[in-house]
Formats: sequence, structure tokens, C-alpha cells
Amino acid sequence: MKSKKQFFTTPIYYVNAKPHLGHAYTSIAADVATRFKQIDDYETFFLTGTDEHGDKIVQAAQQQGTTPKEYADNISKLFQDLLPVLNVKNNHFIRTTDPDHIQVVKDVLSKIYDSGDIYFSSYEGLYCFGCERFYQERELVDGKCQDHGVEPELIKESNYFFKMSKYQEWLINHIKANPDFIQPAQYKNEILSFLKEPLEDLCISRPKSRLTWGITLPFDEDYVTYVWFDALVNYISALGYPDGKLFKKFWPGARHFVAKDIIKPHGIYWPIMLKAAGIQIYNGLNVHGFWNVKGSKMSKSIGNVTDPIQVTNKYGIDPFRYFLMREMVFGLDANFTEETIVSRINSDLANDLGNLFSRVLSMNHRYFTGEVKEPDAEIEKQKNLSLASDAKKAIDKFRQAMSLCEFHKGVEAIWQFISIMNKYIDTTAPWTLAKDDANIPILGTVLYNLIEGLRVVSCLIYPIMPQTSLKMQKTLCMEKGEKGFYTLKETFPWGQIKKGTIIAKPDILFPRIDTDKIKSKNHKKKLAVSNFDKSVTPGNPVK
Ligand code: MSP
Repeated sequence: MKSKKQFFTTPIYYVNAKPHLGHAYTSIAADVATRFKQIDDYETFFLTGTDEHGDKIVQAAQQQGTTPKEYADNISKLFQDLLPVLNVKNNHFIRTTDPDHIQVVKDVLSKIYDSGDIYFSSYEGLYCFGCERFYQERELVDGKCQDHGVEPELIKESNYFFKMSKYQEWLINHIKANPDFIQPAQYKNEILSFLKEPLEDLCISRPKSRLTWGITLPFDEDYVTYVWFDALVNYISALGYPDGKLFKKFWPGARHFVAKDIIKPHGIYWPIMLKAAGIQIYNGLNVHGFWNVKGSKMSKSIGNVTDPIQVTNKYGIDPFRYFLMREMVFGLDANFTEETIVSRINSDLANDLGNLFSRVLSMNHRYFTGEVKEPDAEIEKQKNLSLASDAKKAIDKFRQAMSLCEFHKGVEAIWQFISIMNKYIDTTAPWTLAKDDANIPILGTVLYNLIEGLRVVSCLIYPIMPQTSLKMQKTLCMEKGEKGFYTLKETFPWGQIKKGTIIAKPDILFPRIDTDKIKSKNHKKKLAVSNFDKSVTPGNPVK
């Protein structure tokens, strides 16, 4: 049993629309982080799911002429079916309509109610139905909610309130005392600056006269629970809070992945809810930026809502995962265009990595009929031919960056090593060495180092491109059996490829994409569409 444990979550997605590129990104980022922790010797648990109560869902169901539950079943299935398409391996998929979850929400509410932190009061305020929350005048721009562009309605009703203000000082101190509680730092600062203003108490109920699609309050039959109070609890209900084995094992290592749109509920409501209920505070929040498409926020009216299944079908799972991790600086916004994904595939994947793999193994075939030669230690030292220390540097840099969720830097660390190997081929010029029999021991040493380098690369790319990692390892006769990956500790020792191994001719790892073809195809069929193709079947990448 591993002593280190890590629990990663994605937000649970609303079922009022089909999954798009943004949802796919968070799920892939959390999957990459989980797989990285696995190779770093952690035992992991990865949770995702759907958020199914509230006004939004009722409205979407009404538009489709169906019931909220039927509607939620259909869309939740689309989110579930997307995961294998993206090669995201979750341990559990939670739905807020699951009976176990509903029970835990009631238990947590009862606990906080009994401790006196929930009170009943009448309230008049500006309510945005799109956001399902009350607004302060100062939060509006020209009197309108920024997300929905509408003026909130003035409503007066009696409701239950949660005394968040009581915990404001505690939260500020907790954030300051735990520097990696909210990462990256700009979002920690955003939350701290928000906490400079007095916190309003949170309205945590909705009268059933207005909304019935929710969890009934355990202490008042006439009210349902505010959707965020219900949704956030998924992170503990999924682990079997309070007595479940999984809860005890994984909750202390909980880190939530979210985008910047929902840092307030995660950075403020959630820790305070946990504190008030006497539950250990989660370990941390990893906040990323937004994907814009062709420079604009995705929106149905612009018609740039990008379907991740279409991108995967067109370019392949691993290239899509690679692109998302390489292109976005975690924490900042990024821009998605077909030109950038094609250019990354052609330059980083087909050219840098794909070419290196096929060049090295083809040369090994040409000069040694595929047999791995023993490196000559003396020659290696004399001519400074060892790539071992470059490999070690790459592993260390990769580990450091990935531990901080700086995925783009993790990828860069691998690609720096790939670039060193490409240069090494140019300077050692194996084709010249092959011309003279006297140089055969040097040639064998050079190719051995390159093949070992490829082994290290195949291990490091696993969290980002698991299929390619496996494909490389199969070719190198280094398949890892059941587990399917090498830990960093197992990756590290240099010289693991056995001399005498016969390595077959390589398949092409990443076919180059003909940019002219893409341009003319794009003319006919655009990738970004507002009405998604309804089928959820993965296909083959373009050749
Ligand atoms: N249901 C709430 C979350 C409750 S969690 C207890 C919700 N759902 S959502 O469907 O709107 O999902 C929001 C999340 O989807 C973002 O925080 C982010 O993870 C992902 N993204 C949605 N659009 C995105 C982009 N354009 N770019 C990147 N991620 C985006 O909020």
C-alpha cells in the first residue's frame, strides 16, 4: 500500500448544456494530474460528475418539453460518455440526484443548523435567475448582471441564511497560513482582496413556491437547498462521508480543479461550510483560466462553442490532450484555433518527437538489424556521449513543474530533452560513423544512449499521452504489463534497455497533417459549431 494519497476532483458540470472544450480541458487537466501522481508513487482517487438541481435545469428541461430528471439523465450521460473518448480515467462519477449524495447534503445541513450557524430571516434583494443568486448593487455593471446581461429582479422572501461572516477572519488566516491552499497565487490574491470587504451571509434556501427541483431542507419541508450548497457537498458525499473508508483515506489529500469562474464558491463558501460542519478543510484549489475560441468567449450566438468529440475525432486523443496541456499556461486564458493545434501537432509531435523516434530506430535497424548494442563505457566517457545526466535533469524538472500543476512547463522539460537528443544526432552523425568499421563501438554507444533517451521520454509523457507512451514502450520491448506505466523511480535508473534486444521497425507515431488539406476541408466543414453532432463515437485521427 502506498503511503502518499491524493484526491483530485473536477467541478461537477451543469446539465443544462452539452459538454464543450472548456469542460474537456478541466477533466483532462485533472486526469493528467492524477496520472502524474500515480507515476510519482501516490495512491489516487479521481472524481467528476454532474450538478443536476436548480432553476437552470428546470428551464432547460421545459424548453425541451421533458422533466428535469429525464433531461438530467440524458445530458449527464453525455458527460459520462465523453470521459473514455478523452481517455480520462475517473474512479467515480457522481450525480447530485444520487440518493447517497442527497442524504449527505441533509446531514451536513442538519449539523450546521444544530450548531446555530443557520438562521431564518426575510430578505429583499436583487435576484438574477440565470445565476440563481442575489446580487449587491456594487456587483452589477450598469445595473445588470455581467454574466447574463439582464437587470436582476427585486424579490422579497423569507429564507434560511448561513452565517458566513462569522468565519471571515478564520478564512483569511487559513489562506495566509497555507500558501498553496489556492494556486496559482493570483487567484489566492483575488480571494484575499474579496475578503477585505465584509462577507454577506449566504442565502442557502429557495422556497418551494418558486422552485421544487432541489433537495428539501431537513429542518423545513417548504424549502429546497440552494444549488451551490448542494453541489459543493459532492466532494465529500462521493467518498462516503462521514464513515466511508474512501473518505478517511483520501479526503486529507483533496485538491479541487476549477476555472476562474467559480473560485468564490470554492475559495469562500466551501471552506466555511466545512469549518462550520466540523469537517477537515480540503487541501487545495487549483484554478485555471478560460479557453477562448478564435479570440472570443465561447457562445452559442457567436457559434464558436467547440465540441471536444469533434476535435478528438479529427486530430486524435493524444494530440488533443498534448495541445491542451502545452498551449495553456495554467492559470491564464488561452486561445483555441485549428491553426494552433495543427501547428503544434506538426512541429512538436510529428517533427520533434515522431521524427526522433523513427530516425533512431530506423538507424538501429539499418546498422544493427534492430539489435540493441552494448554501450562501451570507456568510449562513452572519453567522447562524452552519455545522455544520462540530461535525462535526469529532464525528470527532475518535469517532476517539479507537474507537482505544481504547471503542465506547460512539465511538457517543456520533456521537449528540451527531445531537442538535446535531436542535436546529439546531428553532432554525432551516426551515418558518418557507420561508414567505418572501426567506429562501430562508437555507433553502438550513440544509438544505445538515444534508445535509452526514448525510453525515458516514453515514461514521462505517460500522464499527458498515455496511448503514445504505451505505443513507444511496446516498440522498445519495455511494456509495463498490468499497471501500464513506469513510476518516476522506476524510470530514473539509466541503462534499462537490455543489450541484444531486437527492436522492430517503428510505426509512425504522429502523421503530419497536410495543412492545405485542412484548409480546404475547413471550407466545407468547420470544427467550431453551435449545434453539436449528436453522436458520441470516437473516430480515427486525420491522416
Ligand atoms: N455546476 C457548477 C460547478 C459546481 S462544482 C461543486 C458549474 N458548472 S459548469 O458546467 O458551468 O462548469 C464550470 C466549469 O467548466 C469551469 O469552472 C471549468 O472547469 C469548465 N469550463 C467551462 N467553460 C470553460 C472555458 N471556456 N475554459 C476553461 N474551462 C471552462 O459551474
